[in-house]
Amino acid sequence: MALTVERIDSPAGFGCYVHGANLNDLSDADFDKIEEALYTHKLVVITKQKDLQPQKQYELNRRFDRTASGLHGHGGKDEVLNKQFKGRQNITLGFPSVPGVDMVRLVGQGTFPPGHYGTTEPLTLAASSHRGFHLTPLDEETMEKERSTRFQRFHIDAQLYPDGNHTARVTSLWAHTLPVGPPLTVRLDDGSSQTITGAKPGRTAFMDSTYIFREMSPQDQQMVLHSEVEYAPNPYEWIINCKGQNSGFSLVSQGKELPIADLPDGEEGLQKVQRLPMCWINPLTNEPAFQVHAIIARKLHIRRSADAPFEVIDDLEEVRATLDRLQRPHLRQEKILFSPQEEGDLVVWYNRGLRHSAVEYPPSYGPRMMHQVHLQASDSVADMEKPGFVLRALEAAEKENSAPKA
Ligand SMILES: [Fe+2]
Repeated sequence: MALTVERIDSPAGFGCYVHGANLNDLSDADFDKIEEALYTHKLVVITKQKDLQPQKQYELNRRFDRTASGLHGHGGKDEVLNKQFKGRQNITLGFPSVPGVDMVRLVGQGTFPPGHYGTTEPLTLAASSHRGFHLTPLDEETMEKERSTRFQRFHIDAQLYPDGNHTARVTSLWAHTLPVGPPLTVRLDDGSSQTITGAKPGRTAFMDSTYIFREMSPQDQQMVLHSEVEYAPNPYEWIINCKGQNSGFSLVSQGKELPIADLPDGEEGLQKVQRLPMCWINPLTNEPAFQVHAIIARKLHIRRSADAPFEVIDDLEEVRATLDRLQRPHLRQEKILFSPQEEGDLVVWYNRGLRHSAVEYPPSYGPRMMHQVHLQASDSVADMEKPGFVLRALEAAEKENSAPKA
């Protein structure tokens, strides 16, 4: 069956379906089509992959970045287990893996019997809830009664620490079990009365960071094209006591960030922080995406042209107010895409051009189980600004094809 690409019909302006792929036996020609669709449409829903083998999902992620280490963005399994054993209430959490395929992580909620791809014990998944994070969360009764929810938090799949742990190019998410129930209404509760309706339960919400860039004034575009963000050392530990805005878009400034000296790496961590461009360039379309992980940003280095000196903003309230001014107006109903994914579909998205958020649902809608992969990249997003940057997966494929066969 020939592989076909079909645009998703949505005012959000991005996303496509890929039909007719067999991910368990994917030819190079079909991968090339998927890769081109991914960078063109930023999100692809590869339909009807009910028998997808976890190893093949992992290999698909690797084909987007063939020289990457192959390690999950959250680290090796041991690091994840260590986090769990320490009982840290880290908001990145630690996720269990598919047995024998450590880089495929299991995310969702509910209890599943033994026998899921080799599990030998009942498996309980606990999704991150907005209730532990938002400043004034909804209670469960209201969520059930109103069928209302929140964006848990908009983010990029990235640790952004230490320097050298590069942000994944893509994330893939395969739906094994999805909850069932009426569509949900997402409340922003950020001072506006805006709500976003029609969210199918259990699907991830996406917004396009290239759209945020396009909507900015020419002056702001000049500024963000030349400015940089400095992230905190041990960033998720740094904000462990902080609360998020109810919109899921940023943090509330209450002075609760941990002192740098109290973080696992202490003051030495400052030598390993990531300082990255505010805009990340799509290597196929050259579109800039305003891609800032606002909740863990610690400093802004602002300039309005390539030859101007940087001005540093290090007051956290001002850092967050600046980012809010630039991005919050663009969180709008018609620009959010709830991934149109059914059980057996694999969603792959361009993690350097989209932000995403989990969308909680009332427990009465039933369990959810997804297989998730994002891998530490072989290159920094900062490299993408350099002249001559090319999609290295494509380049590697070309070299492989042109190499003399032994
Ligand atoms: Fe994520």
